[in-house]
Amino acid sequence: MLNIIVLVSGGGTNLQAIIDAVETGKISNTRISGVISNNKNAYALVRAQKHGIENLCISPKDFETRAQFNEKFLEAVDGMKPDLIVLAGFLVVIPPKMTERYRNRIINIHPSLIPSFCGTGYYGLKVHEAALLRGVKVVGATVHFVDEGTDTGPIILQKAVEVEPGDTPEILQRRVMEQAEWKILPRAIDLIANGKVKVEDGKTVIL
Ligand code: GRF
Repeated sequence: MLNIIVLVSGGGTNLQAIIDAVETGKISNTRISGVISNNKNAYALVRAQKHGIENLCISPKDFETRAQFNEKFLEAVDGMKPDLIVLAGFLVVIPPKMTERYRNRIINIHPSLIPSFCGTGYYGLKVHEAALLRGVKVVGATVHFVDEGTDTGPIILQKAVEVEPGDTPEILQRRVMEQAEWKILPRAIDLIANGKVKVEDGKTVIL
């Protein structure tokens, strides 16, 4: 049984997709042992409560220095004994010590087809604004392992989504979530839980 924890900052629709997939058996061999938010008002925390999942808020704002936050944050994560850490719309930079300790055991969902529209500054609506500004016809989402860089770790799954005439960043964001994010994030967890993802030379092999 894979123990996962989900780190969130906002609405938590990706968290919900994971909870639903675990409850319906689309994700097998997996238990969600906790949810951590950096934002006490994140609706994602309510979603966790509703499903009886242990949840807590730990915010950089409550600490004098980032180093103090990082230490407590890592302690909280370690305390939940995760086999896999899932970043589902988590907007805090992962401390380097955590990346090292959980090498190839942290995954992130990014709302673009990496390497397009990713890296520093590309988060939330900004990704979709940039895609519309460039006039691309196809966008999508990517699930990848987290390494020291921003959106640079080994890619696990990607799914393309068409841009449609009249799209606004908000409409496009919603379509990318519905058609890509909510599908590939649960799918990636299920693959990992069933031993089907291997990392070789910085790339993944899906068995
Ligand atoms: C998603 O677009 C995700 O790709 C991005 O942040 C958003 C989170 O949405 N990293 P939610 O909190 O899961 O609803």
